[in-house]
Amino acid sequence: MSAALFEVEDLTLSFAGVRALDGVDFTIDEGELFAVIGPNGAGKSTLFNCISGIYRPESGSIKFGGRQLLGSAPHRIASAGIARTFQNVDVFPAMTVEECLLLARHQHLRSGPVASMVRWGRSAREERAALRKVTEVADRLGLGGLLQSTVGTLPHGIQKRVELARSLCMEPRLLLLDEPVAGMNHEETAEMAATLSEVNSDLGVTMLLVEHDMSMVMGISHRVCVLDFGRRIALDTPANVVRDEAVIDAYLGGAL
Ligand SMILES: Nc1ncnc2c1ncn2[C@@H]1O[C@H](COP(=O)(O)OP(=O)(O)O)[C@@H](O)[C@H]1O
Ligand SMILES: [Mg+2]
Repeated sequence: MSAALFEVEDLTLSFAGVRALDGVDFTIDEGELFAVIGPNGAGKSTLFNCISGIYRPESGSIKFGGRQLLGSAPHRIASAGIARTFQNVDVFPAMTVEECLLLARHQHLRSGPVASMVRWGRSAREERAALRKVTEVADRLGLGGLLQSTVGTLPHGIQKRVELARSLCMEPRLLLLDEPVAGMNHEETAEMAATLSEVNSDLGVTMLLVEHDMSMVMGISHRVCVLDFGRRIALDTPANVVRDEAVIDAYLGGAL
């Protein structure tokens, strides 16, 4: 019997008396594309921040590959194989796409965040391997022709792609995606959805996607967890979630 790759159990966290998360449970299987949705204030960002080690929940458990993650610092969680993207593009605007991806790759290879910045002593072989990985990821995400472009000059939708490429260069076992289509137009959203679906199925990267754009989530996710006021009100396939009474109520009569 295989255990789930990722397990969240009874996660609870309050801010000044407001229960941002209230006993949230779910598991994610290896290879799954799992989404968390919910109205504004439902607790999605709080959940995301608990998983990436920025917030410390009052109680509960977060296990990855059977190991307890709770209480680990963000860089330890990252080196355990969990990469995240940021809602606001977090790449350095003055770097080229290639530099940006190489930096992510080196951060992945070196244990500490400071050691990763040190360029001396790295073998030419390591450099070539890093460049190969970066080129492969860039090609897969349609960024192959943009490696020498300065990130800050690229359109927002492309910068979001660079952000995704950055996280993939770390070869994560679990990828946390925070609103990957925020601020994108319809066409960019459709392209990003297709890319995420491809990365999930072709590379086998397990994904936890937190998203506001319902149609996007429903189109690509295997299962969807719905939060409302910090509580899990549904956990099912997209087809069942859209028909769920509690979900429809939470979204005020069918914004889904
Ligand atoms: N740092 C914080 N300090 C105080 N309250 C917070 C903080 N972060 C979130 N909250 C509150 O927790 C609840 C859940 O917020 P959040 O996780 O941001 O929801 P979502 O991302 O689903 O919109 C909200 O009531 C919000 O006001
Ligand atoms: Mg949020």
